[in-house]
This record gives sequence, structure tokens and C-alpha cells, in this order.
Amino acid sequence: MRIFSGIQPTGQKHLGNYIGAIVQYVASQERGEGIFCIVDLHAITVPFDPAELRERGYDTAAILLAAGLDPERCTLFRQSDVPEHTELTWLLSSVTELGRLQRMHQFRDKSFGQRELVSAALLLYPVLQAADVLAYRASEVPVGEDQREHLELMRDAARRFNARFGDGDEVLVVPEHRIPQVGARIMDLQDPTRKMSTTGGSPQGTVFVLDEPAAIGKKLRGAVTDSGSEVCRAPEKPGVSNLIEILAAVRGVEPAAVEAEFASAGYGEFKAAVAGAVVDYLAPVRERYLQLRADETALEAILEDGARRAHEMAHATMLDVRKRMGLGAPRRDRALR
Ligand code: AMP
Ligand code: TRP
Repeated sequence: MRIFSGIQPTGQKHLGNYIGAIVQYVASQERGEGIFCIVDLHAITVPFDPAELRERGYDTAAILLAAGLDPERCTLFRQSDVPEHTELTWLLSSVTELGRLQRMHQFRDKSFGQRELVSAALLLYPVLQAADVLAYRASEVPVGEDQREHLELMRDAARRFNARFGDGDEVLVVPEHRIPQVGARIMDLQDPTRKMSTTGGSPQGTVFVLDEPAAIGKKLRGAVTDSGSEVCRAPEKPGVSNLIEILAAVRGVEPAAVEAEFASAGYGEFKAAVAGAVVDYLAPVRERYLQLRADETALEAILEDGARRAHEMAHATMLDVRKRMGLGAPRRDRALR
């Protein structure tokens, strides 16, 4: 079974990304053939700096490897190294309804907040995301809760393509999303009604994977809690509920087990326990990151090898897609370009 996910190139990965997505990538290596893509083509849909973009790609690769992705067992690559992603984006755009793209939440949010150019690429962002997965005929996509809408569009794109060009065959696989049971939506520690995020969140409320242990401890001990004193999940207790979710995810237990353990504890004691657990959880990742990030040549070699394998897989899909759509010379491109 093929498992595919994509992640934006930034060194600012936070605890939400880590628990909601990265941990699932690492776990998925046990279940199937993992394909993980650093989506630099998605990053150019908003203003960016070219030199930075390349550096942040290495940061992201090093974080993923430090978290436990094993290049011997999975394929880790940079999106822009595999031209099939952009080609399939164009082909899928022909079966994608314009109005649907205009109504996507992310497009509305990002274009609303955008003072500079609102690019056509921002509108096509979800089509590129669909192409990412469909080019590999992957059947599972591990992501956080915020990707639900993008996954629905991707599934529809595959279904529409098959209905229009498949002649009864499942040319493109309709993928399933895999959203974690615990930790699919980690909230900002200072404003627990908003999700933890690199762009929209508060600096004190966002724990970065690469934060120093002292900073992580401080942010968690300073997390806002709610009125009352009981450590339990409730709609009117978003702060405490979020911390319960974090501790449960970090320990790999059910939130109810955390509630039971801290039933007679105060908020201060509970927050100290969460802080300690998260520090212990992220400190080794940061240490491995620092080692890996120091060797850019080695990172580049891993990404290039990944791109070669990814290109082979995507090429095979595209031969079929082009043929079904009546594109290209009938028998031309059998060999890998
Ligand atoms: P990005 O860094 O935007 O590419 O996101 C990488 C992954 O992290 C995606 O699968 C998101 O769904 C996931 N993610 C982002 N923010 C959160 C959050 N606050 N809680 C859980 N998962 C998240
Ligand atoms: N849009 C995703 C995010 O912001 C990143 C992404 C790009 C992705 N392509 C993908 C996720 C393919 C899953 C599958 O997090």
C-alpha cells in the first residue's frame, strides 16, 4: 500500500505539525510504502524569497529525518524535482470546477489576508495537492484535521477523472485520508480557540520543534488555562482540553487516561507535567536535527535519490493518464525522460 503526504518547506515546524502529521508519517513506514514530499511548489503560491526557499527545504528534510523517516524504507523528495506534479496539475485542472476552488477555505483566508498579488497559483493550490497524491496512485494520506477540504477535492478529482477518461477502470486511485485519533488539531497555547500555526498564531502560544528545551518548558507552563480547577476535557475548557490532548499524544495514551491520572492535581502541577513530557519528547529530535542539518551535501543526496524513485513512479502513472486523455504521440514516451 502506498502512503503519501506533503509538507511545506519551513524550519518553523510546530508541535501541531509534529503530532498531527510527522508522527503519522514515521509510523506509516511500518504499514506500507511511504512517499513524503517537501512541497516547495506550494510555497511559491504566496510571497517568498528564492534563497530562503532552498534553505527551508533542507531544514524540513532534516526535521523529518530527525523525527525518524528512514530513507532506506521510504521515499523523501522535493516536489520541484519531479516534473509530473505540475503536468498532472494542468491535466486535472480540466476536470476541476472553478467555483469550487474559489470557495475553498484556504483560498478565501489567504487571498483575504494577502496585501500583495493574489496569484492564480494560490487558486490552483488544491489541484497541485491532488496531483501530488494521484501521481503515485497512493491509497492513504496522513494529514491533520485542517486538510479535510483539500482531501475531499482530491478524491473528487480522481473520481471525475476516472468517470470522464477511465472507461470503467480506476486509472487514478481515490485516496483515503488518515487523520489521527488524538492530536489532529493542536491549539495555540495562548488562544486555545485557534489552531497552533506558524502564520496565524501567537509566538508564546506556539511550541516549535526546534525551540530550546527551556523555551518549550516556559511556553507550556505559561499556557492559558480556564476557570475551574479540574483537569478534564470540556467545551468551556479549551485550554485544559488542549493540554490533555497534547500529553495524551506525546505519551501515546488515551486522553481519558491523562484525566484519570491528574484527577486530583491542580493546574500548576498538571502543566509542569505536560512541560516535562514535551521537553523530553522534542529534545532528542532537536539534537538529531542539528547533526543532520550540518551536512547539506548528505541531505541533498537523500533528496536526489528520493526524486529519482518518485519520478519513476509518477512517470508510470502519467503514461497511462496521457494515453487516456489522447495526449502525446501514441507510443512515444515509454522510457523515463
Ligand atoms: P504544513 O506545515 O502546513 O505543510 O502542515 C503539515 C501538516 O501538519 C499537515 O498535515 C497539517 O494538517 C498538519 N497541521 C498543521 N497545523 C496543525 C495543528 N495545529 N494540529 C495538528 N496538525 C496540524
Ligand atoms: N497543503 C498541505 C499543508 O499545508 C501540504 C500538502 C501538499 C499535502 N501536498 C500534499 C498534504 C499532499 C498531503 C498530501 O499541510
